[in-house]
Amino acid sequence: MRVLGIETSCDETGVALYDSEKGLLGDALYSQVAMHAEYGGVVPELASRDHVRKLIPLIREVMTEAGLGLTDIDAIAYTAGPGLIGALMVGASTGRALALSLGVPAVSVHHMEGHLLAPMLEETPPEFPFVALLVSGGHTQLVQVEGIGRYTLLGESLDDAAGEAFDKAAKMLGLDYPGGPLVAKLAQQGDRSRFTFPRPMTDRPGLDFSFSGLKTFTLNTTNANRDGAGNIDDQTRADIAAAFEEAVVDTLAIKCRRAIQQTGYRQLVIAGGVSANARLREKLEAVMKKERAQLFYARPKFCTDNGAMIAYAGCQRLLAGQESDLTILARPRWPMDTLPAI
Ligand code: KG4
Ligand code: ZN
Repeated sequence: MRVLGIETSCDETGVALYDSEKGLLGDALYSQVAMHAEYGGVVPELASRDHVRKLIPLIREVMTEAGLGLTDIDAIAYTAGPGLIGALMVGASTGRALALSLGVPAVSVHHMEGHLLAPMLEETPPEFPFVALLVSGGHTQLVQVEGIGRYTLLGESLDDAAGEAFDKAAKMLGLDYPGGPLVAKLAQQGDRSRFTFPRPMTDRPGLDFSFSGLKTFTLNTTNANRDGAGNIDDQTRADIAAAFEEAVVDTLAIKCRRAIQQTGYRQLVIAGGVSANARLREKLEAVMKKERAQLFYARPKFCTDNGAMIAYAGCQRLLAGQESDLTILARPRWPMDTLPAI
């Protein structure tokens, strides 16, 4: 089965063609980052309009890359949420209409399920059951995964998501949006031991997170190190970036270890934009080794938003006989544990 995947939930237009037998046949991504950077974050209306401009050319590009025509598509999978409503509507209405015109089924995909299953596209995929850490710009969740659609939420952030915390820390350090990769880059030049930032909620039991206090701590540390003219030297900026990254990574690692011990599972999957973070991968590799557990993640371009994860997730649901009706489904909020099992 060949499934065209469409992702337009936020600021990237992603399209991919996935074949259940041959794997990925093509994928293309257009990032709106440069457009939103000027405003320091995503402007929803601009995002929707840009998806309208880019989606159809990207579909053409993917079909050309695969050497196939539209009539070779067996089904269409589109992101139906969670995300920005206007942005979602572009992918949902295009995907649903294209499916109708081609006479093929369409399936609405949950964006976070897409992220969760992205490591399945790699050469050595995880096997159910496993624990998943979902870390993106909007979500930080630990999930017990027994199969597709068999999700139990173990813990989540009570305030900011990990990616959001990275983006806010970046702003304080004078870096562009999205700040995650830039903070990580700056942190490489930093001394990780000069400042010690708190590891929120690690001194009490449970698997929930809180990152908003770290934001305040970062702001206070930054302000305390300004000179008379309000400037902060480059080495201090790098040291703050390093201390911040270390605190986030350490906090995530402590909770992942707890989740592995609590479930008795021996596989941890990390997914979503922050799972591209090299320091997080390095730390979790070490922690999982101690637990005799294995760590799985997607290649960096499939950690952040992309069409391949949507095509893959949609394909699994279609193979199980689940397809969506003619409704154009777009849900800004959509709890993942309400999804049907397959
Ligand atoms: O999954 P994603 O592309 O979009 C959402 O679904 O939100 O995640 C984007 C988030 C942003 O907050 C970005 O700063 C963060 O992932 N991110 C990173 C890295 N790459 C992306 N954070 C830390 N280190 C990275 N290397
Ligand atoms: Zn995402």
